[in-house]
Amino acid sequence: MTRLGLIGLGGIMRGTHIPGIRQCPDFTVAAVCDIDPGALARTADELGIPEDRRFLDYRDLLACPDIDAVDIATPNDVHAPIALAAIAAGKPLSCEKPLALTAAAAESVAAAAKAAGLPNMVCFSYRYKSAARFARDIVRRGDIGRVHHVAIQYFQGWGLEDAHCPLVWRFVKARSGSGALGDLGSHAADLVPFVTGLRYRRIVGQCATVVPERPLPEDPLKTGPVDVDDYANYMAEMEGGATCCFQITRLAFGRGNYQRMEIYGSKGALVYTLDADHSGRDTLDLCLGNAMGAGGSYVRVDIPERYHAAQMQSYADVLQGRGDGLAATLDDGAANMRVMDAVLESQRTGRWIDLNA
Ligand SMILES: NC(=O)c1ccc[n+]([C@@H]2O[C@H](COP(=O)([O-])OP(=O)(O)OC[C@H]3O[C@@H](n4cnc5c(N)ncnc54)[C@H](O)[C@@H]3O)[C@@H](O)[C@H]2O)c1
Repeated sequence: MTRLGLIGLGGIMRGTHIPGIRQCPDFTVAAVCDIDPGALARTADELGIPEDRRFLDYRDLLACPDIDAVDIATPNDVHAPIALAAIAAGKPLSCEKPLALTAAAAESVAAAAKAAGLPNMVCFSYRYKSAARFARDIVRRGDIGRVHHVAIQYFQGWGLEDAHCPLVWRFVKARSGSGALGDLGSHAADLVPFVTGLRYRRIVGQCATVVPERPLPEDPLKTGPVDVDDYANYMAEMEGGATCCFQITRLAFGRGNYQRMEIYGSKGALVYTLDADHSGRDTLDLCLGNAMGAGGSYVRVDIPERYHAAQMQSYADVLQGRGDGLAATLDDGAANMRVMDAVLESQRTGRWIDLNA
């Protein structure tokens, strides 16, 4: 049984990680940490964590002898400092995405974990969608031939003016690194190589802020400036000559957590979707032409049970040395940050950016 220390008890920890931990027989939550005393008390009470294992400062949690590993789900600006401190304390770690504010910071985390020999994971959650995992096998075993084109959209709508979202940390560059790009585009930039096995060669992109001011959380009658992108469009050349177009936005009317990835190969094509009907469901449509005797038609496929996976169980497996190799590592998180940095640099310079990844 692995005794976990949870750091950052907000939306994703409470909504996704803790339910996943509850379903995982290999984990027990031993300690919790949040800088917000109310957030700390709420989750600690719910989980029955004793007073001496509730911490306002992550350094105190890391010094606690009763934890074997940590799970970091704070805002982006403190991912790298907490991850480095966890590594220095000899604690294996999972960390939310994007891994850091910059590729340089992400690389330092990955290098430190490697030097310390610590198991690690980055929470690229869509790797656990069964449709994505099935698509990965289909593409990698060559069923759709050589990949020519990928088109991926990740659309949410909560950033629209009418949603009146306050100026939370996601809209502040110093806390988030970037906006829709790092929040949603990081997932998309991870999913494409995860499924296709192709690395990025170079990137060109454009992103912008559309809603320039948002209500202050502490005083909704006042507003403050947004200094991150609301949307990001970028294009990548990949190894083998494939190209990939990304459309990423928080301003997609009527969209909840919508993803669509189309992959066109020399012998077939597939379409992965998520939350297309607001059910949260993932689907896979395949078009294999002659192989299916129905050229040109896309057929919804049943996804075999063996493709079902859970992020927290995957973390437990990584910690116990029995991972399936499909969880994102800190190295993957650093490579992903190089893509994020490249899009921002391309936006600044108007140029293609080589990745040398
Ligand atoms: N993998 C996914 O699909 C997914 C989805 C949503 C969010 N995320 C990521 O999860 C992270 C958290 O997002 P969220 O939506 O839960 O944010 P949130 O604002 O709801 O929660 C963040 C929590 O961290 C706490 N915190 C801030 N600084 C801290 C510190 N130094 N030490 C301890 N606690 C601290 C805050 O008080 C808050 O309770 C972000 O990096 C985000 O990108 C990932």
